[in-house]
Amino acid sequence: LVPGTYTDLADILACPACHGALHFDPPARAFACTYHGLFPLSGEFPSFVSGHDRAFEEHWENNRSGHIAVHKLRAARAFLAPLLARAQRSTPMRILDAGCGEGAHVSVLAEACAGRGDRLVAIDIAISALHDAARHGANDVRCVHADMSSLPFQSASFDAAFSFGVLHLTPQPRRSFEELCRVLRPGGMLGLWVFRGGPVTRGGLRLARLLARILGSGFTRVMADMMVPFYGAVPTRSGLALGNSSWRQTREVLLSNLTPPHMHFLTPDQLARWCEDATMTMIESAGEPITIWAVKR
Ligand SMILES: C[S@@+](CC[C@H](N)C(=O)[O-])C[C@H]1O[C@@H](n2cnc3c(N)ncnc32)[C@H](O)[C@@H]1O
Ligand SMILES: [Zn+2]
Repeated sequence: LVPGTYTDLADILACPACHGALHFDPPARAFACTYHGLFPLSGEFPSFVSGHDRAFEEHWENNRSGHIAVHKLRAARAFLAPLLARAQRSTPMRILDAGCGEGAHVSVLAEACAGRGDRLVAIDIAISALHDAARHGANDVRCVHADMSSLPFQSASFDAAFSFGVLHLTPQPRRSFEELCRVLRPGGMLGLWVFRGGPVTRGGLRLARLLARILGSGFTRVMADMMVPFYGAVPTRSGLALGNSSWRQTREVLLSNLTPPHMHFLTPDQLARWCEDATMTMIESAGEPITIWAVKR
């Protein structure tokens, strides 16, 4: 298989199109599906994405900040609490972070679960994010370049899967949601955090995103820079503030709302219905931002 670190993914990787078995083809440096051809590595990362929108790649190429902002780590710890509690009572788990970004959650898990033998897998659609996630998760995380709406994993291969701030940015959130449920084993835990905002925030964001699309990336950056100082004064639900994050880190969060090609404003009821349809029993939920933990029946 892939030299080095990816041998331990061999039993769960699958073709994202047919979920069939893959084999590694060393001369081609690619995973291969009998029916869907080659999936060449991207650097050292198994890669199952091609021809996608480069918006997220450009976002991370231009906005990496070297270390993760304090407010992100704090939010990651709070969100992961139910999973950490379960991990303490459980044998080693296989855990998926879908849309890991620069790796706030894998870094919290790597630290909290050190020495337990859990297997952390992080995917993102942006290779530049995976480089940071691999660094922040240290040796404990396996990074895979993948699209959340077509996961390259066998069904029922994870004990837990979560996605923080990503579902609403994918073109078809329900399809992405169903993919997360598919790769969970019965009894496995699903965690979701989805930005929604109040009516005023949503209206402002729609307008700002429209301006960003019409006026281009240079203007959007200026617009984000003009918004940054307000985060010094205004308390935000996310905890983002200039007091705990650098200018660059604050701008990164603002741009992560302005530049993604899609943004869906999902409702808690909608997600509750999707959970029910996917035989997921909710064990925790909060309204805004939407936070859900559920267990697969
Ligand atoms: C707002 S960031 C959240 C990052 C991280 N979860 C965190 O909380 O810091 C959204 C992330 O989702 C990734 N992403 C967007 N669409 C995706 C998709 N279809 N599949 C996988 N990752 C995706 C982006 O590249 C980006 O890293
Ligand atoms: Zn296939």
